[in-house]
Order: sequence, then C-alpha cells, then structure tokens
Amino acid sequence: MSAMMIIAETLRLILRRFDATDLDGFAALMANPDVMRFSLGAYSREQSLSLLERLIADNDANRPTLYAAMHRADGKLIGYCGFLRQKVGSKDELEIGYRFHPDYWNQGIATEAAMAVRDYAFDRLGLDHLVSFIHPNNHASRRVTEKIGMRLETEITFRGFPTQVFGISRVVQTRN
Ligand SMILES: CC(C)(COP(=O)(O)OP(=O)(O)OC[C@H]1O[C@@H](n2cnc3c(N)ncnc32)[C@H](O)[C@@H]1OP(=O)(O)O)[C@@H](O)C(=O)NCCC(=O)NCCS
Repeated sequence: MSAMMIIAETLRLILRRFDATDLDGFAALMANPDVMRFSLGAYSREQSLSLLERLIADNDANRPTLYAAMHRADGKLIGYCGFLRQKVGSKDELEIGYRFHPDYWNQGIATEAAMAVRDYAFDRLGLDHLVSFIHPNNHASRRVTEKIGMRLETEITFRGFPTQVFGISRVVQTRN
C-alpha cells in the first residue's frame, strides 16, 4: 500500500483512501441493512459503485472524504470513517461519518477510527471545527461522538428527522 493512500494507522485499523479495487468489499458492506441503519437503507451494487466513484473523485481532487477502514488482524474492509460535506444553517461544515460491520460493533472500533480522523482534520488539514449529525434514535453513534470529545451544539432537521448536531473545535495551542 503506498504511503499516499494511508490517512491514519491505529491500534486495530488502517484508514486509507478507497480505490476501484474496493468495489466488491464496499458493495458487500453497503448491502448490509444493519450497516445502513439510520440512513437511506441498504445500497444496491450500482449505488455503491456510484458512491465509490464519488469518493475516488474526491481523493483525486484532494478533497476530504470517506476512507476505508481495514481491520489489521484479518485484513478485511470492515467499515468506513471520514468526512462528509454538510451545511448547518448557512455555514459549511465537515461532518465525521462512520459505519462499521456489526461483527465489529461495541469494541471501541468506531471511536478509534473517529479519533484518528478528528486528529487528521485538526493536525494535518488544519480545520478549526468538525460536526457530527445524530439521528434521535442512534444512541451508539451519539456515544461515539461524546467519546471523541464532541458536545451538543444545535438541533436541525436533516432528511426529515430532528437531528442533533454535535461539534468540536480545534484547541489552539498558545505559548507564554
Ligand atoms: C454507530 C457505530 C458506528 C458504532 O460503532 P462501534 O464500533 O460499535 O462503536 P464503539 O464501540 O466505539 O462505541 C459504541 C458505544 O455505544 C454504546 N451503545 C451501543 N449500542 C447502544 C444502544 N443501543 N444504546 C446506548 N448505547 C449503545 C456502546 O456501549 C459504546 O459505548 P461505551 O463505550 O460507553 O460502552 C455502529 O453501531 C454502526 O456502524 N452503526 C450503523 C451505522 C450508523 O449508525 N452510523 C452512524 C450514523 S451515520
């Protein structure tokens, strides 16, 4: 794997850019209704292909996007974590987004990935603020945002649901 591809390495994961060879693994993941809970429902292979093409185009244009989460222990693509472009009111924001295969839930994996992506945004991309949109019934996802240091900032309507917007700002280091 070329260094260009890698976004972050954590204890259990490698986060790397998607490429065209990921289609089978990505489509299998996105076809799983549990992975796609609190969203638009399971994706067809065609829908996954068109999303994958968008993610690759983002990489080619050097835009922050969603990244493949590879499980180090078994080498499998087990989810994704990265950035989605959103608006809160009139303000452009980057959202941290993640989905993981249910076989890997409740082991702290999403938190590990989201922390790495948060640090990448602040330390490498120089962003000042990140958000996370939480569906009212998505307790696990809300817990992940809390564990990475996000706090409730506002409430909006997103895709027809009342949605909590959690956020975190970069801590600016000051020298005396
Ligand atoms: C949300 C999701 C990414 C969490 O992944 P994960 O790897 O299980 O997350 P973690 O293990 O890091 O943390 C999950 C936390 O939620 C808690 N949790 C899980 N299910 C819960 C529930 N039904 N009610 C309350 N808390 C719950 C866990 O106990 C854990 O908190 P803790 O560490 O304080 O015990 C995963 O469930 C998922 O992919 N869901 C489907 C897609 C999705 O909802 N994505 C996010 C919205 S776009």
